[in-house]
Amino acid sequence: MGDDRVRTYIEGLDERMEGGIPNGSAVLVVGEPGTMKSSVTFNILYNNAMQDGRKSLYITLEQNAASLAKQMKGFGWDPKAAGDKIEILDIGAIRKRMKQEPKWMFVFKTFVKNLKDSNKYDILVIDSLPVLEVLAKFEEPRDELFQLFEWLRDMGLTTFLISEMSPDSRAYARYDEDFLSDGIMHLRMREMGGVSVQRHIRCVKMRSTNHSTDYFSLLFDKGQFKATRVIGDGRI
Ligand SMILES: Nc1ncnc2c1ncn2[C@@H]1O[C@H](COP(=O)(O)OP(=O)(O)OP(=O)(O)O)[C@@H](O)[C@H]1O
Ligand SMILES: [Mg+2]
Repeated sequence: MGDDRVRTYIEGLDERMEGGIPNGSAVLVVGEPGTMKSSVTFNILYNNAMQDGRKSLYITLEQNAASLAKQMKGFGWDPKAAGDKIEILDIGAIRKRMKQEPKWMFVFKTFVKNLKDSNKYDILVIDSLPVLEVLAKFEEPRDELFQLFEWLRDMGLTTFLISEMSPDSRAYARYDEDFLSDGIMHLRMREMGGVSVQRHIRCVKMRSTNHSTDYFSLLFDKGQFKATRVIGDGRI
């Protein structure tokens, strides 16, 4: 693997996608509540910081920064250990700098751009895209999302956009985010035998990458995510 890909650091997954996610991609991380969207994404940032020296910015719009940091510490990924390689910002921090500016999206973009210029991070997380859409009060969501994706690509950032999926839906996105994105990672929980529940992960799409489109069991063991072949199909 060269430097042209960002590893997911999920053992068994990188090997099935040419080593990782192509640099500069905008990737949707979608799933139902509690499917580990935030944790899987933070794991990518943490390992990229510690092992590859890559810098990132995690914008959390649902959870405050302290709560997210505490949760990640619980997994064994202490944001403080990553020093200035990981910055976590929440809505409160952004609001503080907003003053009277009514154009939320303008403020958001300026903020992200200024931090990129000063801190030189190259991975960005938006947790979550639906909350950003609400805050930005998009009048023409399709048009404005198209512009957002273009803007992210122009900045050369590898971006993870976390998004929600309701348990009874098969749609990965509300507007055209699934078509606009370069990649989609789907996380789900599946009942096995009516009692236990397995976590699954699947790479739905990844442009410029020969990857498996299968679901894999997502396991967390000794501080490490692993993707292994699913045993059984949940219809026992
Ligand atoms: N230290 C831990 N080790 C293993 N699993 C954990 C640990 N802490 C939390 N979990 C599991 O991770 C789940 C939460 O993961 P996470 O917050 O990443 O999910 P999410 O998809 O982002 O959720 P939401 O939809 O609420 O944003 C918890 O519900 C719990 O099952
Ligand atoms: Mg989350």
